[in-house]
Amino acid sequence: MNITKLEDIFNLALQSRIFLNREFLLPDYVPEELPHRDKQIMKLGSILAPALANSRPQNVFIYGLTGTGKTAVTRYVLRKMLEKDDKKIAFSYINCRMNDTNYRVLVDLIKSLGKQVPFTGLSTAEVLNRFTEYLDRKNRIMIVVLDEVDYLVKKSGDNILYHLTRLNSILKKSKLSIIGITNDLNFISYLDSRVKSSLCERELIFPPYTTQELEDILIRRAEKALRKEAIGNGVISLCAAIAAKQNGDCRLALDLLLKSAEIAEEEGLSKITEDIVRRAQREIERDLVIDLVKSMPFHLKMILFSIYLLKERGDKRITTGDVYDFYKKLGNKLGIDIVTHRRVSDIISELDTLGIVNSKIVSLGRYGRTKIINLSASKKSIIMGLREDNYFTTIIDEILKTNYR
Ligand SMILES: Nc1ncnc2c1ncn2[C@@H]1O[C@H](COP(=O)(O)OP(=O)(O)OP(=O)(O)O)[C@@H](O)[C@H]1O
Ligand SMILES: [Mg+2]
Repeated sequence: MNITKLEDIFNLALQSRIFLNREFLLPDYVPEELPHRDKQIMKLGSILAPALANSRPQNVFIYGLTGTGKTAVTRYVLRKMLEKDDKKIAFSYINCRMNDTNYRVLVDLIKSLGKQVPFTGLSTAEVLNRFTEYLDRKNRIMIVVLDEVDYLVKKSGDNILYHLTRLNSILKKSKLSIIGITNDLNFISYLDSRVKSSLCERELIFPPYTTQELEDILIRRAEKALRKEAIGNGVISLCAAIAAKQNGDCRLALDLLLKSAEIAEEEGLSKITEDIVRRAQREIERDLVIDLVKSMPFHLKMILFSIYLLKERGDKRITTGDVYDFYKKLGNKLGIDIVTHRRVSDIISELDTLGIVNSKIVSLGRYGRTKIINLSASKKSIIMGLREDNYFTTIIDEILKTNYR
């Protein structure tokens, strides 16, 4: 290893021309102030405040699109409450994307009471009993946050929610309140009506941020994260404007600024420019597409690959029938079972919803109507995503060797 080079890297990090402290732009950092969320902070605070006086707060259901500050605001309010009182109240914050089974949620709840249960082996009913018992012994108000709760319900049903919302009738000394958070606006429709009415005792909506609001937020976070002289003209406004178009997503706004700063830093520049922001935007989009394609089920990948190859071959007007025929041929060649024409059509709609392809219905006069399909994501990112799957890497290499292009 080249020691001088390594030294250079370390020194560069120590005397960055761009960053003061990049931590302030990281997604997990909960800032000391959350501009434009006063209303939500005050409302959540006033719903939870009774806990400080020993009475059970109502359950709250929080919803809004991604990046609108739901997690940040909730953690902020809990932190402030904890500073005020850590004796009467027990808190538990659970991200249900990581803990998407009833068992794991209960294990986490028990852990936050300072107790332990084995990770496997007990029945869920038994773990629920133990949790109830431990909690009652504590003699506390417990506030449980189930963040991204839609993951739990989609994977494991709403059973645990049902039991948790009913627990107060069993508890003698303690009380439990639940804060459910989701960005899936259809989530409520998956719930049993009894669970729905108890979880939604109170509701809190997080609207998307406007460009101006995102700009304010970015300015405050950039003040701590970046050198003032490193932020070029229009850079913050551009990050805000791009993110405002994407449903006012603050995470995207911060990502853009961070990525732009990283590009400038890596290239040894002293200023972030609007051009760099646009490059960062392309990189973020590319990464999103790669992740999305990578995690798709097999036949989605097959159909996407078929559309890709048809495009590569130079076809201009690709219909659902063309995709089906091509996919069928490909499937036969590879010796795999294929799905029906109907299913292919549904998959194309799914790919459209995901923003990877776009399909437009056009009229064929007296021959009826058909869908014309195009790729919306870049071909390069699609192939990079497919190549993350070993099986597809082999297929791609094989097909590209033949004259399928
Ligand atoms: N008002 C604000 N001021 C400063 N930073 C904010 C504000 N709102 C959100 N953020 C930041 O934006 C990012 C996304 O916010 P958050 O994680 O709270 O979104 P979310 O609504 O929970 O999204 P998701 O539904 O995807 O979980 C976080 O890094 C958060 O710190
Ligand atoms: Mg969140």
